[in-house]
Amino acid sequence: MDLTGRRVWVVGASSGIGAALARELCLRGAQVAVSARRADALKEVAGEWMTAVPCDITDADEVRQAAGVVAAELGGIDIAVLSAGYWKQMGDEFDVESFDQHLAVNLSGMANCLGELIPRMKKQRAGMIVGISSVAGYRGLPGSEAYGATKAAQINLLEALRVRLRPDGIDVLTVCPGFVETEMTSDNTFPMPFIVSAEQAGRAIADGIERQSARIVFPWQMSLLMRISRLVPDRLWALALTPRS
Ligand SMILES: NC(=O)c1ccc[n+]([C@@H]2O[C@H](COP(=O)([O-])OP(=O)(O)OC[C@H]3O[C@@H](n4cnc5c(N)ncnc54)[C@H](OP(=O)(O)O)[C@@H]3O)[C@@H](O)[C@H]2O)c1
Repeated sequence: MDLTGRRVWVVGASSGIGAALARELCLRGAQVAVSARRADALKEVAGEWMTAVPCDITDADEVRQAAGVVAAELGGIDIAVLSAGYWKQMGDEFDVESFDQHLAVNLSGMANCLGELIPRMKKQRAGMIVGISSVAGYRGLPGSEAYGATKAAQINLLEALRVRLRPDGIDVLTVCPGFVETEMTSDNTFPMPFIVSAEQAGRAIADGIERQSARIVFPWQMSLLMRISRLVPDRLWALALTPRS
């Protein structure tokens, strides 16, 4: 797919992967609108080249309004990238409040965006939805109970939609990054193997969009590792990841 002139809405673009991808898409000739809650950070990312439309995706009304503004400013939405996300490591105690916050942003927030985008794209009989999940959704990881559960759910949700929306001319891409250097990972104290920069992530996702890959996984080392991890039997997985005392 040639990105020149494509009208793209990147949600979750005030920092990190979303911001880097928005810049990359601009460089490749797309017309880009960016959304997130922090209006100042968003403005800085947008500069003179993008349209900034602040919005909290946990609020369905705000998402509806923002989608309307973006569609009006760009003249329609060809591609929507859903990158907004929340991560907090689960401590020793199971934290229900934190679990709910992951659900609200990563899952209900994504659903709010989909609820606006799908009818619009169905009307156009064309469109592309790019959901940013994570390799953390591939297997259960201690500390990632809430985050991983929502990322696994996103993978499943996006896969189901890819089938359902095909007859409407709407394509659905699932992005599963490994570790990326962003605000989200800046406080992590555990090792983050094969970590890449947000700019590298932005380029990998833009390449995947151009190729129209159903699943975009990077870096390749993490992709390979997680593919192998899915073959490990459940008991062996638990044994391997149990901390030694
Ligand atoms: N970094 C990694 O290692 C990594 C790995 C795999 C997957 N991912 C996924 O990649 C995506 C982007 O994360 P990132 O690493 O780029 O982190 P980030 O820099 O913290 O970016 C997260 C973005 O989501 C926005 N956001 C959060 N809550 C929101 C809400 N309620 N409404 C609207 N926007 C909201 C944030 O903006 P505001 O705070 O301004 O709202 C920010 O723009 C996430 O879905 C994350 O799960 C990240």
